[in-house]
Amino acid sequence: MPQGVVIIGGQWGDEGKGKIVDYYTMKADLVCRFQGGNNAGHTLVVDGKQTILHLIPSGILHPHARCLIGSGVVVDPEIFLQEISVLKKAGVSKLEERIFLSDRAHLIMDYHKSLDAAREGRKGGSGKIGTTKRGIGPAYEDRASRRGVRVADLYNESAFTEKVKNNFEEKNFLLEKYYGAPACSVEKLIEKYREIAKQLKPYVKDVSAYLSDEINKGSKILFEGAQGVLLDVDYGTYPYVTSSHTLPSQAALGLGVRIPVDTLFIGVIKAYSTRVGEGPFPTELNDAMGEKLRETGHEYGATTGRPRRCGWLDLVSVKYSMRVSGMKNLAITKADVLSGIDELKICTHYMHKGQRIDTFPADTSILSEVTPVYETLPGWKEDLKGIRTANDMPKNLVNYLKFIEEKTGARFHLVSTGAGREAVINIHDAF
Ligand code: IMP
Repeated sequence: MPQGVVIIGGQWGDEGKGKIVDYYTMKADLVCRFQGGNNAGHTLVVDGKQTILHLIPSGILHPHARCLIGSGVVVDPEIFLQEISVLKKAGVSKLEERIFLSDRAHLIMDYHKSLDAAREGRKGGSGKIGTTKRGIGPAYEDRASRRGVRVADLYNESAFTEKVKNNFEEKNFLLEKYYGAPACSVEKLIEKYREIAKQLKPYVKDVSAYLSDEINKGSKILFEGAQGVLLDVDYGTYPYVTSSHTLPSQAALGLGVRIPVDTLFIGVIKAYSTRVGEGPFPTELNDAMGEKLRETGHEYGATTGRPRRCGWLDLVSVKYSMRVSGMKNLAITKADVLSGIDELKICTHYMHKGQRIDTFPADTSILSEVTPVYETLPGWKEDLKGIRTANDMPKNLVNYLKFIEEKTGARFHLVSTGAGREAVINIHDAF
């Protein structure tokens, strides 16, 4: 039984990781986020009640679990406090004893959000990424260029004021003169963050030290990834990616710990593919089937409400994702969405100018030109909702899963068959 499990998205995000994290949290002591920010959106349905979280780990809905936000996460403190208030209203208790925020995490400031929106909205501008406009990219840029403001800075007023004032000069110049967008007011912002600092204080911790102690004590740790491998800043479909590393190796860096030696990496994939924002998507379906997948699967972004682009399962991308992240174990979600479709297609490789392609090329423009090659498998008619054991799965679903296992060398741990916490078939125990 491993001491740690890292859960990451094996595609372009939105694979339904929140649900899988929620499932494994039953057996974990701590749930930790290590990258990304409130660009993520985890939809959880417990006892028929839906909760959407963007920043606080979804494990918080289990009363026994403690939740950590590591230094690798960029934190919009207003969103953090809003989620705390939503959780309190929903009766989730002891939050100050259960949620800890790294003092080294970088803050998403108002000017990051303004810049993100200004760049995306630039008239006639090329290079639109289709971001969530949550300020994620600009905040990570400031971290790398050493202009970032960190949680710890909130408690050193003179340093905070100086950093923010310096940043303002540059950001306002860019906003006003380059993007023609409204500038931000420095005085208002400093005042706002003074108040935020007070409210945030009970949650701030040296997360690296705390988690290291817990790992040494033998606590069970769940590392909760956001987005997906194909959105990783280096290994994703660059530049149509997010600005952080989404691979399991980021778990150690983004929390400042040595993760337990016996940690299992689980990649979550959807039974088909989806993507939001711009960028190549070889198996995208711009037809009635794509529309059917979007409607049956409620494929609208949990963060922005944007309709997700939908397509058949792409094993070239899944195999690539498994290689760069070192995953051998998978969970598959939304198998129920495929119920009732007569024939299911799975992409096994691509063709490009007469050449066979079996992996993701670094040149993203090639990926937009490839033709996917499919194998067709018979679908299943059965409603999967009540099914709880592998033995009760329809034969054609078993074949669909076997086909994926054979082509990728992966092993499935879980099959999710609906939004609710109970709609899961456990094939192999992780913890
Ligand atoms: P950003 O992370 O807001 O900068 O957006 C960069 C790209 O990542 C865009 O294509 C977004 O749609 C995508 N993205 C960011 N977060 C998520 C997510 O949680 N799920 C799916 N796509 C995401």
